[in-house]
Amino acid sequence: MERICLIASDGKGRIAPEIYGHFAEHLGGVFRGGLWVGEDSEVPNIRGFRRFVVEKFRAIRPPVLRYPGGCFAETYNWRDGIGPRAHRPKTLNWWYRDDRRVETNEVGTHEFVDFCRMTGAQPYLAGNLTSMTPLDLRKWMEYCDLPAGTTTLAAERAENGDSEPLGIRFWGIGNENWGGGGNMTPEMYAREYVRYATICHSANVNGARYVACGANGFDVAWTERFMRAFTEKRAPLWGLSFHYYCGGAGDPVAFTEAEWDTLVGRAAQMQELIERHKAAMLTFDPKREIKIVVDEWGCWHPDGSGPSRGYNLFEQQSTMRDAVIAALTLNIFNNNCDVVAMANVAQLCNNLHCLFLADGEYEIVTPTYHVFDLYKEHQGARHIHTAGASDKLSVSASEKNGVITVTMANLSFGEAREIELSSFDVPLGAQAVWTVLACEDPHAHNTFETPDAVTPGVPQTLPVREGKLTLTLPAAAVARLEIRL
Ligand code: AHR
Repeated sequence: MERICLIASDGKGRIAPEIYGHFAEHLGGVFRGGLWVGEDSEVPNIRGFRRFVVEKFRAIRPPVLRYPGGCFAETYNWRDGIGPRAHRPKTLNWWYRDDRRVETNEVGTHEFVDFCRMTGAQPYLAGNLTSMTPLDLRKWMEYCDLPAGTTTLAAERAENGDSEPLGIRFWGIGNENWGGGGNMTPEMYAREYVRYATICHSANVNGARYVACGANGFDVAWTERFMRAFTEKRAPLWGLSFHYYCGGAGDPVAFTEAEWDTLVGRAAQMQELIERHKAAMLTFDPKREIKIVVDEWGCWHPDGSGPSRGYNLFEQQSTMRDAVIAALTLNIFNNNCDVVAMANVAQLCNNLHCLFLADGEYEIVTPTYHVFDLYKEHQGARHIHTAGASDKLSVSASEKNGVITVTMANLSFGEAREIELSSFDVPLGAQAVWTVLACEDPHAHNTFETPDAVTPGVPQTLPVREGKLTLTLPAAAVARLEIRL
């Protein structure tokens, strides 16, 4: 029996909604045939975006969506994606060498912001620091957000359909600048960051926040060296990101129990990563004014397991293993909400660790989608510490509007867990509602033929007796418990 205790007085503050963020890049089938089908398509759509995705995505209350890359951002010229669609150029993009598909630019700034408005996500644009100038990035900011009737670029935005500012809340300055984004040292990047952020800031009229490119996974030296160089000559900075893909282990669908343990173990390292980057930043930022942003995270299985069988670059199938890893990762973010201010799972559709798979008339949600749905009440809630979980059980808890939400993931491939939940200082109501996402087979996943193979069970009402609850969490499962105060 695992004994979990809720301790509100040890909570870490508010869980930033942006921890539940997403990422959509111009890459493979993310937009092409995935999110975007075009206005003339027979596939039901809203102004070109797949209606199924718009509606389902809106339902999980996405707080933020990062766009247009990823690597794509570092060769992207935003001017290619504005103006009448028929006149937009076909361009060579970052991924051309991998899949020989050119960029049609049918989706650009206005379409992306339209998608955000339809779904409720705040737009987060990743700027090109490697192959365009600081002035180009500043002009994109000016185009997006200078008030109507001010500059010529603001007038051009109005001609293109949006007289009012687009309201870009977050700007990334570069992407993976230790690699594809210019292959820089941390010192070189810090210098570039300061140049770009200084120039851009003079066009920042709506309080947009900047995110700097951080490390690749455990490269804590990048964080230290960037922070040291940045401290010498600063510019406005809200968050420092890092990317962490836990990779793959075995076949994305037909993995063994040992491969399950390997991948779940690697995903669990997110906790250590946060601690190590946090420690590296603290030396230079003792007041913790700079937040941690996990700009990209997720599983990265070998290509070819998705419905397009490899045609869409990086498209992969998602099983209960991916759902458990998503749940574990989101619990870690909740439990570190004092330092993690945003995180974006990569990527939204037909890609790595995605929430949607779609092709033509076929469209499904993955088990990972259901995790985001089960966890959505944590957004903006007050964190509650959970004590006592073993290393096979991942837990986090929060309170919002008089309701406690406890989310759990059973990290064991084959063993159910008996759990007793109690509280140290939160008065628990008489009943709780228990919703479980589980399948007998941990390899279970949704396909176009069986779209509901993995779907949450019917919520059950459970009694709270003498301030305690007894629960059974099946093997390889994710669950949510809701209790009124
Ligand atoms: O998500 C796919 C790619 O992974 C992104 O473009 C890049 O930033 C990362 O390496």
